[in-house]
Amino acid sequence: MKKNYETKLWGGRFRGDEDNLMEEFQNSFTTTLWLLKPDIKGSIAHVAMLVKCEIITEEEGKALTEGLNSILKDLEAGKLDLDGSYEDVHTYVELELANRVGDVAKKLHTARSRNDQCNTDMKLFVKDEMQNVIGLLDSLIDTINRIADANPWIMPGYTHLQRAQVVTFKYYLMAYHSMFSRDRRRLVDAFNSMTESPLGCGALAGTTHNIDRQYTASLLGFETVYSNFIDGVSDRDFCLEAMAAFSIIMMHLSRLAEELCLWTSSEFGFITLDDRYTTGSSIMPQKKNPDASELIRGKTGRVYGNLFTLLTVMKGIPLAYNKDMQEDKESFYDSLTTTTICIKLMNRMIGTLKANPESMKKAVKKGFLNATEVADYLVKKGVTFREAHSIVGQIVIYAEDNKTSIEELSLEELSKFSSEFDDDIYSYIDYEEILKKGIKKEML
Ligand code: ARG
Repeated sequence: MKKNYETKLWGGRFRGDEDNLMEEFQNSFTTTLWLLKPDIKGSIAHVAMLVKCEIITEEEGKALTEGLNSILKDLEAGKLDLDGSYEDVHTYVELELANRVGDVAKKLHTARSRNDQCNTDMKLFVKDEMQNVIGLLDSLIDTINRIADANPWIMPGYTHLQRAQVVTFKYYLMAYHSMFSRDRRRLVDAFNSMTESPLGCGALAGTTHNIDRQYTASLLGFETVYSNFIDGVSDRDFCLEAMAAFSIIMMHLSRLAEELCLWTSSEFGFITLDDRYTTGSSIMPQKKNPDASELIRGKTGRVYGNLFTLLTVMKGIPLAYNKDMQEDKESFYDSLTTTTICIKLMNRMIGTLKANPESMKKAVKKGFLNATEVADYLVKKGVTFREAHSIVGQIVIYAEDNKTSIEELSLEELSKFSSEFDDDIYSYIDYEEILKKGIKKEML
């Protein structure tokens, strides 16, 4: 083996060293230390399989497994010296193993390529992290449920950001409950489809050794193996599916974040955010800014961007492995960490917000939020809906001109617009009563 085995896993056919800049350019070690654990676990399974298939001896397997376990232990205890310049985590683990167990480490990579290895590591990592994110979403969904139940107040619902019809704060929040529940389902679906193990696909064409891919698959928690070696090393769909699911979560989070920014402004005044999730201004002493919400809104772009990065990386590259694909790691990791912290912060913000039912009620009373129900009333009295719509439009102009609301008009005034109005109109269009009628009851 050439001098390169001290820092590299290859080098035999090279006459000279890599340019420093090239080395720096292709290095993925420092940015993917989070792959060390799955890498070691993947290698432990690989060694077990090599022993089972009698490709290495039991003693060799034992030495390799003990060495790998000792690296894992030191990793977990934060005792690894990770300062050296290694090409990637796979290189580090194999060379560190050689330091610990000697020449037998040179057998570790038998019947394996970094192409199947890196995809196995990534898939193990993505699967694990998907479960974490599912747990975080569960907790957010629970918090929304709890805060919704505690806040049954009426509030204006909007279309075009114009007051539209009366709803409740509880029901409004529960819309987000539905959205995050769909997100959870998407994550579970993505997780459930990550069933195939890439390990054993080799560089792209399997191996002449009689290995047992199904054995490593089950040791690593995969149901099955890729049916096609070339696909097994080229597939990054699982990263993309996870990142697409994260992007949709961020889209939902950013909508809720925007609502929080609006609701906490003096213009709305519907809620107060806990001081812990807001910041002040360096010049304006009175300011309390909803920075956590704004950042969630802002960080959504990164998560979309990462999805587009990887989609673009994967676009048009020929099968099988190409180094372009190393770019899957940083983009996935950034999406993961960004989405994770945003879900956690949203959970804390929602869990500590204080609603202001008085402001919500005041807002309900301005803007003719019962106009549709006035039309419904007329329909019940036999007027066609289109006719009723037009009558109520006239009433709205009249009330607007007189700076009042529909419910404050006298029966005499209302009767000028339609002879169908009676005393019962007032209870019919009372904002609380509206919510008890027809299928609107579902909102209570
Ligand atoms: N660091 C590489 C990656 O993550 C590992 C695979 C390298 N394979 C290769 N043929 N150079 O994509």
